[in-house]
Amino acid sequence: MKEMVNQHMERVTNQLFHMQNETVSFILHVMQNGHIEQVYYGKPLDDLNDEEINYLVTTNNKSAGTVKFFEDDGAFTLTDHPQAYPVYGSSDFKEGAIELTRNQEVYYPDFRFVEAFYTKGKPRNLAHPATYADENESETLTIKMSDDERKLELLLNYTLFKGSPAIAQSQTLTNQSTSDLQIQRMLSGVLNLPTKEYTFTHFSGAWLKERAIKQRPLEQGIVAIGSLKGASGHQHNPFIRFTHQTATLNSGEVYGMNLVYSGNFLAQAEVDEWDKTRAMIGIHPSQFLWNLSAGESFTTPEAILMYSDTGTNGLAKHFSYLIENHLMDRKWRTLPRPIVFNNWEATYFDFNEEKLLSLADIGKSLGMECFVIDDGWFSHRQNDRSSLGDWTADPAKFPQGLGRFAKNIKEMGLQLGMWFEPEMISPDSELLKNHPDWVVRHPYKRISVGRGQYVLDFSNPQVVEDIYQQMVKIIDETNLAYIKWDMNRNITEAFSSYLAENHIYQQEFFHRYILGVYRLYEKLLTTYPDLLIEGCAGGGGRYDLGILFYSPQIWPSDNSDALARLTIQSGTLSGYPLSSFSNHVSASPNHQVLRHTSLAFRQDVAMFGPLGYELDLLALTENEKQQIKERIRFYKKHRQLLTHGDFIQLLPNDPSDNEVYWGVFNSDKTEAIIGYYQKTALPNPATISYLPLTKALKEDSAYQINEQEILRGKILMSVGLKKPRLFNGANHATYQLGGDCQSFIYHLKERNINSYEDI
Ligand code: DGJ
Repeated sequence: MKEMVNQHMERVTNQLFHMQNETVSFILHVMQNGHIEQVYYGKPLDDLNDEEINYLVTTNNKSAGTVKFFEDDGAFTLTDHPQAYPVYGSSDFKEGAIELTRNQEVYYPDFRFVEAFYTKGKPRNLAHPATYADENESETLTIKMSDDERKLELLLNYTLFKGSPAIAQSQTLTNQSTSDLQIQRMLSGVLNLPTKEYTFTHFSGAWLKERAIKQRPLEQGIVAIGSLKGASGHQHNPFIRFTHQTATLNSGEVYGMNLVYSGNFLAQAEVDEWDKTRAMIGIHPSQFLWNLSAGESFTTPEAILMYSDTGTNGLAKHFSYLIENHLMDRKWRTLPRPIVFNNWEATYFDFNEEKLLSLADIGKSLGMECFVIDDGWFSHRQNDRSSLGDWTADPAKFPQGLGRFAKNIKEMGLQLGMWFEPEMISPDSELLKNHPDWVVRHPYKRISVGRGQYVLDFSNPQVVEDIYQQMVKIIDETNLAYIKWDMNRNITEAFSSYLAENHIYQQEFFHRYILGVYRLYEKLLTTYPDLLIEGCAGGGGRYDLGILFYSPQIWPSDNSDALARLTIQSGTLSGYPLSSFSNHVSASPNHQVLRHTSLAFRQDVAMFGPLGYELDLLALTENEKQQIKERIRFYKKHRQLLTHGDFIQLLPNDPSDNEVYWGVFNSDKTEAIIGYYQKTALPNPATISYLPLTKALKEDSAYQINEQEILRGKILMSVGLKKPRLFNGANHATYQLGGDCQSFIYHLKERNINSYEDI
């Protein structure tokens, strides 16, 4: 990283802050009113001379029709400036990032620059999800601002990481006055773009169709997505992207934002009357308030800003790098993710230890590595109407005890995983009888029920502690390696009797709830640092960077249909790493959409990322067992590439396209695995056609394809990869793919060649 400061903390005197490395420049400037503007974020500019600095920061005229900031300066107005942490109400009428009140009195904060510091490194702290880095891997610029009239201090924190164009941004507000004040809105990340020439992309959908790519051009006004469900939600994901009109898959400028948070969020872009864009992300201000007593501080969750000058693939690659190296626990980059068998779709609630052991036996013989018991192992849970909160094994299902069962699994050479839904409580549970006040419910008589269950009040530390103690007993008894942490309903009638008793504002509930969730994660991972906790929320209802900080993988959707997964995975992979979600091969017809697909297609889709199986192994034919064995053998050989390789979309991934074409490449481009998928069969397709491999390989190398022909990189990149022969109504003897839901996997391996004749 260029210009890393030498001392641990250095006082900054300059009024321009230029954070830079070989991938990016990010420039902040103290304006004449003492506020900060975000002048530039883009290609690296190297060191700037005075003339260049002036060029960047000078605004000569006040835009017509605006209000001026100073009585004696007719030209200065905030609305002309890309405010780094925007305030509303003093010469800028766009939505601001921060809103404060004191007992109904509205503040118009006036934070002015005091000083700034650079700090090296950023420790990982399990108490709060955020990025982290070693001392030589990052520098954080902290700008101290003060509002003297209202006695407030605001710290703006920006971290730049070695080799990455990411900026991690957060803010801390301290109340230095002698009375309480209320934070009505305090967002996390701000990105200013000089034009509106961008497409706004977000991942949206619903249960069974999470994170589909949606896009629209920016236009004057506000476009916003968010969640008020108490979780980031199935409907919208906190990742947003701004793709310049001239950008493509592999070229051009693209920006992204995401939030390291799992609760209610807002992500929006406002285009003003001069076509300038202000994007912001943070905790959703609706249903939020935080009372800041005298002397107290509040820190926002962290936002990630990202820049790419290599198109949307470049942006995805930068996000993947950041998430795997500076957000998730790094050990998961090298520890192999186990190939899981999960019994959910194989048995649902209908199982006992004997059945589970027979499934485990077959799973082991096919090469699976971790046996996960899903929902239904505890108390008297026969369906989804009871027992959540009572985390003791059902003696009818485990007559020899859970400990004995766990030993059997271990003796087979398998790891054990178990399902929990720690945040929930069933009306029919001992926990509810003993602690009726632990449920999230308003004193009103009526309470909404979702999936037959209520939500536990995780804003109450005693509740978190109780659930933790229950989980500890099970983890110790079973020597558990893996937990699937599910969360199947959202919060309604938010009200906490704990907060009421402690005279804490009820509007703090949603944020305190998520802090309770993080507290449980923190406790579990402090006691069991090697535990692999897979996140899940009725599938992908809480797929965000807050959860990925603790859980290196998330179950991305309850929809295990391979065709639907093409869309879900394509969307997800535009902003998250391959290693961040698990894919299970399930039965045909599929249980969520009743579609019939071949085992080959299901395995070809599932193998990109951590792999698992979730179908009734007892019903497999010998031929199917053979196919699974072979695929697992292949997967194990290439697991590192398939979970941590550089993922590239080789065709634009519009969900309505009939073809999907993606690949993973190792970092030195010596090996690649490429998947080609055709959703529906087309009549009389071209007999020979090629799939683009632009920029994906090394020109001067040669590659062997599926252990057969060897071709130079130059040929493959210029001509393309020959498509499998599609059935065209006449080529009965020679076609490779025919019918709907077809796939073809290419394995490319660099081969040494000394001369052209060697090929
Ligand atoms: C929803 C999850 O997403 C499923 O995989 C399964 O674990 C069920 N809950 C169990 O209730």
